[in-house]
Amino acid sequence: MSVASTREQWGSKLGFLLAAVGSSIGLGNIWKFPYLAGENGGGAFVLIYLACILVVGLPIMIAEIVIGRHTEKDPVGALRIIGAGSRWEYVGYLGVLSGFFIMTFYSVVGGWTLGYIVKSVSGAFDSIEDVAAAELIFDNFVRNPVEAIVYHFLFMSATMYIVIRGIKNGIERYNKVLLPLLFFILLVLIIKGLSLDGALDGLAFFLKPDFSKIGFKTVIEAMGQCFFSLSLGMGAMITYGSYLSRKEKVLGSSLQIVVFDTLAALLSGLAIFPALFAVGMTPDKGPGLTFNILPVVFSKMSYGTVFATLFFLLLFIAALTSAISLVEVVVAYITDEKGWSRKKAVLICGSAIFILGIPAALSFGVLSEFRPFFGNTYFDFMDKLTTFYMLPVGGLLIALCLGWKYGLEKTMHELDSDTKNAFIEKLWAITIKYVSPLTLAVIILYFGVYRLIAG
Ligand code: TRP
Repeated sequence: MSVASTREQWGSKLGFLLAAVGSSIGLGNIWKFPYLAGENGGGAFVLIYLACILVVGLPIMIAEIVIGRHTEKDPVGALRIIGAGSRWEYVGYLGVLSGFFIMTFYSVVGGWTLGYIVKSVSGAFDSIEDVAAAELIFDNFVRNPVEAIVYHFLFMSATMYIVIRGIKNGIERYNKVLLPLLFFILLVLIIKGLSLDGALDGLAFFLKPDFSKIGFKTVIEAMGQCFFSLSLGMGAMITYGSYLSRKEKVLGSSLQIVVFDTLAALLSGLAIFPALFAVGMTPDKGPGLTFNILPVVFSKMSYGTVFATLFFLLLFIAALTSAISLVEVVVAYITDEKGWSRKKAVLICGSAIFILGIPAALSFGVLSEFRPFFGNTYFDFMDKLTTFYMLPVGGLLIALCLGWKYGLEKTMHELDSDTKNAFIEKLWAITIKYVSPLTLAVIILYFGVYRLIAG
């Protein structure tokens, strides 16, 4: 492998860590995780989710960063190298395509967070009494084609602005500021939530497992969430790992990313459930939790305007630092493989994502009845296709390619190769070769069959 490349690198180990944590902490943690837990038996879902992370998430996180650092390439180039020039590079293409697809709906929700910051500041939620009033505000907002598209445009522009500046001066720099701010806001919200009367019921709901709500669907939900939340299965971590200096070790960083991401998901639950129960609401409302229920919760708090604004700012920051990584995967592929300049790649890919995101932005309004995708709107289809199929399949193929085609021996030196980690290395080797692929294969197959039967 040529080391004397002019490829950009992170300025420091901390820079890489913050960027990777910024990628993983996103709408998945703050928007999706709490409502999934709310629908799927609280603590029971949390337990299954943690199991997915240990058996599949962490091992694949290590694998992706190892592959990236080892090959110093975008996902397509990386898979071409470790797949020894055979068809494995299509796994890389699958990844780039996943990044593109996810971004088309992710940017729409990112736009909503911007719109909700504006609404919070201007006091739109100050005097709403019930969920019906909040739903009305949400429906009118997402149904309005002009607003939906303009905010999607603004979010996409902010993302492109950062990615155009490159690894060190763009991605690393902004993550360094935004991520600490994110954790600070989260803590403020948790303290406020826990200080409310009745908060403990929410805490109990979140932590106490209700196993009667658990079924096969819960397992696939948890597994999909594990991939989505940790930014795995499409080469985002291969890409970020490819800018990691050879001086740094991989094992510790991977563990830190996974711990921070899980912590952020749990802390989001801690910020949301106590406050929710304190004002007498239930958490089983699905995706509307964040945008339809929380505004009501805030309107019933003292200084609600401030906390509502802080919350949607938190959501915006989380979404932005994740979106950056999604766009970076596509950009890395185009600059590495096609030799385009970064600027040209960002402008053209970003515009394409914006245009393909328009049907997602309209999925709640004019296109809400346009459901040619197995009965789904464009938005839901892209979400399900990527989360339940493309990412887990991508993760499975990445694990197989590294573990079986390339062989782990050639990459073991990418881990901390001092003897004190020998046991962990061995454990990882067994997991990535056998345990993770087998678990994933069973879940994917079962899910495919289950879907065919249950429709
Ligand atoms: N992990 C982010 C979230 O939780 C979303 C995300 C960013 C992502 N990059 C990704 C998901 C790559 C899958 C793959 O919101």
